[in-house]
Amino acid sequence: MSAANDANIEYIDWNNAFEILDKAFKLGIFVLIIGPKGTGKTTLVRKFAKQVSKELSSVNFSLRTRESHLIGTNTIDNGQINFVNGVLVHSMTQGDLL
Ligand SMILES: Nc1ncnc2c1ncn2[C@@H]1O[C@H](COP(=O)(O)OP(=O)(O)OP(=O)(O)O)[C@@H](O)[C@H]1O
Ligand SMILES: [Mg+2]
Repeated sequence: MSAANDANIEYIDWNNAFEILDKAFKLGIFVLIIGPKGTGKTTLVRKFAKQVSKELSSVNFSLRTRESHLIGTNTIDNGQINFVNGVLVHSMTQGDLL
């Protein structure tokens, strides 16, 4: 995601968020960021991904989101069955942030 790695992202760290994300990142644990709409959650994560030089993948959940979007799905190309990774498997195998 090119916008996700925009070097010019500004984030005002009013809540020590970078320090907390950094700790979690170094320990390899997941982070849940909760807050009202438009309060900078996505901006924070984009900036953090930039700081640690990681690609950032994202997925929006809707009623039409299926397990296969995350895990992957089989496709048939020229009579050959191939497995195409979903966003979760892709980002895990690349060592990206999701
Ligand atoms: N702490 C902050 N520092 C800099 N910009 C901020 C901050 N908080 C919000 N913004 C700005 O507010 C706008 C909305 O922020 P963002 O999209 O990151 O919010 P969000 O919490 O991810 O919202 P949503 O819940 O809708 O996904 C962006 O333009 C962002 O730059
Ligand atoms: Mg957001």
